[in-house]
Amino acid sequence: MIINNDTIIKDTDPFIRRKSEPVPLPLSEEDRSLLQDMYMYVKNSTDPEIAERDNLRPAVGISAIQVGVPKRMTAVIVRDTDKNDHEVVYEYMLVNPRIVSKSLQKAYLESGEGCLSVAKVHEGYVVRSARVTVKAYDALTDQEISIRARGYLAIVLQHELDHFEGVLFYDHINKENPWPNVPGAISV
Ligand code: CO
Repeated sequence: MIINNDTIIKDTDPFIRRKSEPVPLPLSEEDRSLLQDMYMYVKNSTDPEIAERDNLRPAVGISAIQVGVPKRMTAVIVRDTDKNDHEVVYEYMLVNPRIVSKSLQKAYLESGEGCLSVAKVHEGYVVRSARVTVKAYDALTDQEISIRARGYLAIVLQHELDHFEGVLFYDHINKENPWPNVPGAISV
């Protein structure tokens, strides 16, 4: 499947609000191939030369609904630092991911969120859980995994899983008070 900024479904299309269906396992070749194309989109999107040539908007994640397939699959590549301040790359091709636990503590991106399906800028904090545990089948390593995510990765996973419910990041922004002071929250 060709995935670029022209083929990605935008929020002007009501399809983006559809709920995504669970994916049968073992993964069909068709589903695996789609998830691989989504993964390659995210990977290539952060290479400036390829992104320019192929009309890719930089991203850390993409969900299947965004390419017109309402299935619970998402590809994520997040660069961050771990507890010891070492560079780490978290990369996944997730099938049927679900949040099994989340912290009471909140976190938000200091500069707000963006989305491949949202052309306009929506300013404001998207307040999410600071830590989440996500269980899923990971098609990159071909195993059931449990991800204990914090900070940026936790936010990205919550953003992508929202897509399965037809929820977009700006749905979470408080219109009256877009930059609230959230007690105890981590600014990422
Ligand atoms: Co998005």
